[in-house]
Amino acid sequence: MADTTAAATYGSYLKIDELLSLQQPRSDGPEHDELLFIIIHQVYELWFKELLHEFDRVARLLTSEAPHRAQHTLKRILTILKVMVAQLDILETMTPLEFLSFRARLEAASGFQSDQFRQIEFLLGAKNEQAIERFPEPSRAREALARRYQAPTLWDAFLHYLSREGYRVPAAHLSRDVTARAEPSFEIQAILIDIYRGDPKNAELCERLVDLDEGLQEWRYRHVKMVERTIGMKRGTGGSAGVPYLAGTLGKPLFPDLWEIRGRL
Ligand code: HEM
Repeated sequence: MADTTAAATYGSYLKIDELLSLQQPRSDGPEHDELLFIIIHQVYELWFKELLHEFDRVARLLTSEAPHRAQHTLKRILTILKVMVAQLDILETMTPLEFLSFRARLEAASGFQSDQFRQIEFLLGAKNEQAIERFPEPSRAREALARRYQAPTLWDAFLHYLSREGYRVPAAHLSRDVTARAEPSFEIQAILIDIYRGDPKNAELCERLVDLDEGLQEWRYRHVKMVERTIGMKRGTGGSAGVPYLAGTLGKPLFPDLWEIRGRL
């Protein structure tokens, strides 16, 4: 029987018509810079989606028969993160007055409400049950976030991997409550010091996790400086104090044990 389905084209495969219809400015005119503002946020959400996809793979690989492949995926994640940080440069070409021309039309909308960003925080260990409550029930966002809340974090996958590599990770760490933040641990730090001193393969993996931690902190820092130069000390559209709130999220490492040991190597 002849195949009657049309061959895929660039437009049909990538759903270009649908994609190009998704940017809908709210300002009168509309104001010139609102399109950039919408596109950059949509691009971020797509990168968040891709990161979640890749992080799930890292966790799967770490617990598989081929854990060494996790490094390859981590490298991809780090490359994406660099692009995400660099993208803030584009938004910084928008002056405070250009932003003000349409800011009121955002009403209460804010990146603060990005469920995918919270999912990334959760899978990296920064869990906060209240963040789930902010999303309506039922919704895709709430379900996804609730699932991530109950799931082990990347750090948990890493500790299980180390245990399988023969390191004496205490049982309490392997069966911990994964919805709580992992507390710094002297026993884990002792293991990490051993790795750095005598296990180059796993020391490399540790370094990639430090890159990741530093990369996310870099994004936070660049975001808060961008916010400061654009709205100064005004409150955020999401209802927070703005810069003071964001500044409070800086300097909080995801993997404190990996930072703690560095002065002791
Ligand atoms: C002119 C551009 C931007 C301004 C003025 C701005 C402003 C703010 C402010 C004031 C907050 C604090 C929450 C609030 O009260 O609203 C915030 C949070 C946030 N923004 Fe932006 N933002 C901008 C661009 C972006 C972009 C491009 C992204 C990429 C997705 C983004 C993602 C986030 C995220 C994820 C948070 C939550 C951070 C946290 O809770 O730790 N923002 N933003």
